[in-house]
Amino acid sequence: MKRYLDCNATCPPVQAALDAVAKAATEAAGNPSSLHWAGRAARRIVDDARDRIASYVGAESGSVVFTSGGTESNNIAIHSAIAPHQPGRIVCTAIEHPAILKPLQRLADQGCEVIRVRPDHNGVVSAESMLAAINDQTRMVCMMLVNNESGAIQPVGDVAANCRQRGIPMLVDAVQALGKVPFDFRQLDVDFMSLSAHKIGGPKGVGALLVKRGVKLQELAPGGGQERGRRSGTENVPGIAGFAAALGEIDFSSFAPIRDAFEQQLATQIPEVRFVAEQAPRTANTSLFVLPGMDGETLLMQLDLAGFAVASGSACSSGKRDPSHVLLAMGMNESLARSSIRVSFAPGNSMADADALAAALVQSRNRLKGMAGLAT
Ligand SMILES: Cc1ncc(COP(=O)(O)O)c(C=O)c1O
Repeated sequence: MKRYLDCNATCPPVQAALDAVAKAATEAAGNPSSLHWAGRAARRIVDDARDRIASYVGAESGSVVFTSGGTESNNIAIHSAIAPHQPGRIVCTAIEHPAILKPLQRLADQGCEVIRVRPDHNGVVSAESMLAAINDQTRMVCMMLVNNESGAIQPVGDVAANCRQRGIPMLVDAVQALGKVPFDFRQLDVDFMSLSAHKIGGPKGVGALLVKRGVKLQELAPGGGQERGRRSGTENVPGIAGFAAALGEIDFSSFAPIRDAFEQQLATQIPEVRFVAEQAPRTANTSLFVLPGMDGETLLMQLDLAGFAVASGSACSSGKRDPSHVLLAMGMNESLARSSIRVSFAPGNSMADADALAAALVQSRNRLKGMAGLAT
């Protein structure tokens, strides 16, 4: 039996999104920039989706710029706030997604000072430590609302208030927060916010950048001037329709009893397990844990053979497995960071799935310990 528990990597599409994609692809096949009836039908779909997304996140419709997803949204925001070779400081958390850390590294290579603020032992980067890193040279602040590995919710509101006062552009990566944590773009009053459809049961390869009124965007790929000259390229009409249709379809809070029961079972049967961000406010579908002495990749492969799709905390870059930068930033050593597994519950998962996964994990851990000649 196959069980999918890797929703933070991508969430299986919900039926409403699949229906909307199919409908838009067949019934509105025109180019939204065309003036004729077919173009107008496609334009209506894009505009309706824009209105729906805007109202869901408390933004004006004019703030929503459709993109290919979270990675592009983050890159456009950074590219818009910081000119190449511009000196000054950028402050981010050390636990951002690579879609922020990598473009910032490029700017660091060009002479920008990039300060990566570390989290506490619960995986939360405090507002105080962010504010302590912001100085008069700071040109931009980047902070995720929810961490993709641990699910830990970050205190972006206090940092946003300070940036607003000081006139510093702030980007909030809300890719993992959408649908899971309430927020209001207008109230937060930041310059940029990134969203992605596939984390909430929408299609892959579509997302949005929310932009505060009056803030100018620099196009990454200049072209036909779509999205009011802010993001060129013919809009992904079916994807956009699917994105809007997915909003609110999944009740992510409903996973809390399943996740808690899963953690309870693991804690009872594997005494050495350590749950990451356990004491932090975190999203209800996510459980990140380390199993000291185990190799997360090996465990993942064993679970895969048993039909379970989960994630290990490590990232794959150029063929080699790096330990999770999030766990390293929390002060864990490499070996502990390599022992991590992330379970992120997805629609359709039941208590029985959580029980079965816990049992499979206990079995794998006992087998691996047995092979290593250790007492279980
Ligand atoms: C926090 C965060 N930001 C950005 C991204 C990138 O989003 P996309 O896959 O839509 O490019 C992800 C995806 O895992 C993410 O978790």
